[in-house]
Amino acid sequence: MGKDVIVACDFKSAEDTFAFLDKFTGRKPFVKIGMELFYAEGPSIVREIKARGHKIFLDLKLHDIPNTVKKAMSVLRNLDVDITNLHAAGTKSMMEAAIEGLTRPDGTRPLLIAVTQLTSTDQEAMERDLLIKEPIDKVVMHYAKTAKDAGLDGVVCSPLEAEKVHDTCGKTFLTVTPGVRFADGDIGDQKRVMTPAEAKKIGSDYIVVGRPITAADDPVAAYERCVSDFVD
Ligand code: C5P
Repeated sequence: MGKDVIVACDFKSAEDTFAFLDKFTGRKPFVKIGMELFYAEGPSIVREIKARGHKIFLDLKLHDIPNTVKKAMSVLRNLDVDITNLHAAGTKSMMEAAIEGLTRPDGTRPLLIAVTQLTSTDQEAMERDLLIKEPIDKVVMHYAKTAKDAGLDGVVCSPLEAEKVHDTCGKTFLTVTPGVRFADGDIGDQKRVMTPAEAKKIGSDYIVVGRPITAADDPVAAYERCVSDFVD
């Protein structure tokens, strides 16, 4: 797996998702399936999208006691997704249990990445609600390092953190970065954004792009623009 654009399919139903994916008659985008679509449609949506030839990032952000996460991951491993994730806040033992659960009898497994601090959490909320008093970038790097020590493959992070994650955890530790916008596009509710070309320059491994593609007048052209700015 190398650099790629992952399209966040934040749709409410299989019908809407397939109407969108049907527009792609050439290259098949790497697809992110999140909680809304997965909870609405169940595992069949993963199997159907996979059967159409897409790679899949299943973004369910697991966070529970180690035994429960291990058992949940052992169900997810049978869905044959390419990447899935969990919250690093679940601790190193939860992440180690997740890897055990995700690993198939033949030793293979999907890539497993960790959410550090959500990009919707700022310093103030972290101190007030979580009683974590350290600077947020130090917390993010600590979570990334713990995820690496637990054997995970990378983290979801802001594109602004990707370079530092690579410095802290090594170049092969994957950075998967949402918050990507075209220079001439709407930023919507994202606060700290980067263009695909900037994300490439600072070394993101995968960019996750939703509305700049899904809400574009010509989604295929918007996707191809992302690919040519980020990958080619
Ligand atoms: O439409 P947009 O490009 O903002 O979509 C970004 C996608 O990445 C959404 O599915 C969002 O939930 C997800 N995401 C994010 N920030 C994070 C983690 C995930 O925007 N920190």
